[in-house]
Amino acid sequence: MLEIELCGLQLKNPLILASGVLGSHSSSLNEIAKDVGAVVTKSVSIEGREGYKNPTVINWKCGLLNAVGLASPPAKIFSEELKSFNRACPLIISLYGKSPEEFSKLTEIFEIADAFELNLSCPHVKGAGMEIGKDLELSCEIVKATKKSTEKPVIAKISVMHDYIKLAKELEKAGIDAIAISNTLPGMKIDIISKKPVLSNITGGVSGRAIKPIALKAVYDLYKVLEVPIIGCGGITNFEDALEFIMAGAKAVQIGSAVYYSKRVFYSIKESLIAFLRANKCKLTELVGVAHI
Ligand SMILES: Cc1cc2nc3c(=O)[nH]c(=O)nc-3n(C[C@H](O)[C@H](O)[C@H](O)COP(=O)(O)O)c2cc1C
Repeated sequence: MLEIELCGLQLKNPLILASGVLGSHSSSLNEIAKDVGAVVTKSVSIEGREGYKNPTVINWKCGLLNAVGLASPPAKIFSEELKSFNRACPLIISLYGKSPEEFSKLTEIFEIADAFELNLSCPHVKGAGMEIGKDLELSCEIVKATKKSTEKPVIAKISVMHDYIKLAKELEKAGIDAIAISNTLPGMKIDIISKKPVLSNITGGVSGRAIKPIALKAVYDLYKVLEVPIIGCGGITNFEDALEFIMAGAKAVQIGSAVYYSKRVFYSIKESLIAFLRANKCKLTELVGVAHI
């Protein structure tokens, strides 16, 4: 009832694990793979990164604030680790790097991938993520290079902090298969007793409830101008949130911070979506973009 096709991938439902929240081990992905449409791995680069010192994740009242710093093992070690992924759903590997060559090389290392997601949007690592997404020409070169090096679907994950309409349209021209929006938004927290920033990196990325209306508007805006599918991400914690994103124009949604509170979130959203569709006698695909007048 919830099955969708997403740029050639068959998904049993439109709910995708967002990159990063479950770390870099197959065992955590295996735990949720039976309930999700697909999983996106923690972002990985050729060399890997140690990331920032603790504290790296703060749980505050409207979501999370994190500056993990793209901590992950080098690509070759990560690809070995992923051999124990149970394949109960498609595996999307999130990649980050600094040049088209690095991204291309990464697609070659991860033969195990069903698709790739290009991280053009992480807000707290110098020279990667969002800094790449800010550079329109470089982002397009990266998309062209990865499309050349792999026949698998390539998704670009961009930020609402970008001029996202312009960026997404250019990436579409460059050959991208889907756009995911959004990553976390830059933010910070200060401890009033020590009078100092709480995160070791001082600033980080805000996710969860706080960013939902912002990400939702971005999906709504992009649906008007793009042909390729849109994957909505930001603050989804229940089936109503997921439906709002779908009605705004998302073909699928990614869920990150909500998993931090409960790994059952996918199961419960999935069951509620089925109940909603039955009660309203409609198909999920009929609801995509229905909020547009
Ligand atoms: C602890 C943590 C780690 C994350 N790591 C990554 C990452 O490695 N790559 C990436 O593209 N996004 C990463 N994200 C961003 C999420 O994938 C997602 O885009 C963002 O959290 C918004 O969705 P949410 O509100 O459902 O969490 C991370 C988020 C959190 C909270």
